[in-house]
Amino acid sequence: MFFHPPDFCVKVIVMSLFKKKCENRILPRHIAIIMDGNGRWAKKHSLPRSSGHVAGAKTFKDIARYCNKIGLEYLTVYAFSTENWKRPKEEVDNIMNLLRDYLKDAENFKSDNIKVKFIGNLEPLADDIKALMKKDEEGSKDATGLKLNIAVNYGGRDEITRAVKKIVADGVKPEDITEDTVSDNLYTAGMPDPDFIIRPSGEYRLSNYLIWQSAYAEYWFSDILWPDFKPRHLEEAIDDFNRRNRRFGGV
Ligand code: IPE
Ligand code: IPE
Ligand code: MG
Repeated sequence: MFFHPPDFCVKVIVMSLFKKKCENRILPRHIAIIMDGNGRWAKKHSLPRSSGHVAGAKTFKDIARYCNKIGLEYLTVYAFSTENWKRPKEEVDNIMNLLRDYLKDAENFKSDNIKVKFIGNLEPLADDIKALMKKDEEGSKDATGLKLNIAVNYGGRDEITRAVKKIVADGVKPEDITEDTVSDNLYTAGMPDPDFIIRPSGEYRLSNYLIWQSAYAEYWFSDILWPDFKPRHLEEAIDDFNRRNRRFGGV
């Protein structure tokens, strides 16, 4: 092997430029992703919709690990909405079984130091799923890496309705209700609001996702179907986030 000084110099320059780019960029504190497009991905590959959900679950694990690696604080993913029960029973069963398999996988994120929390109305879920979710949360409660929220049977309107019911049941006087009172009664209480919402699959809507919390979020939409979503797409999105001028109503 011969040492080629020019090659070496080019490598050092490229690496230091990359490092500088990483150092200068701002990472959102809380990214929320609508993991959409599994069905269309399956169709594109002439596969059943269930295969799309399997591929989507793999992407979810890869992206969560990547977010942890780059030092993101919070990631909240939309796995199943309060509206998704409208799908054929077979598909709902498939998704629930996939969730069950994911939860049974002891490997999960244990070695990654990721702290897992499930958000949504978990009550109607099967007892074994609820028990596995609890186990997953308990098992990762001391993790100090990425805080990963997985939204299951989640709906923004349902979440706000529940918060209102709780505030009324707690006997809080109307004059004492502030925006913080509402925030403190949502599933995301104590967390920073998502500052960046990512939706692949070519749809331009929130589909009832974090509607209170995303009031001032930045949005990134893309035609990529969720199973095809790679860390480089996330990087592209974060670069875009860095070009946004966030004014929060100011000048
Ligand atoms: C997202 O993919 C997964 C869930 C909603 C559970 P979809 O299943 O909605 O995929 P498309 O939108 O039909 O392609
Ligand atoms: C949103 O996707 C819910 C999840 C990704 C879990 P949907 O596919 O259910 O949303 P719509 O029906 O296109 O609005
Ligand atoms: Mg969809």
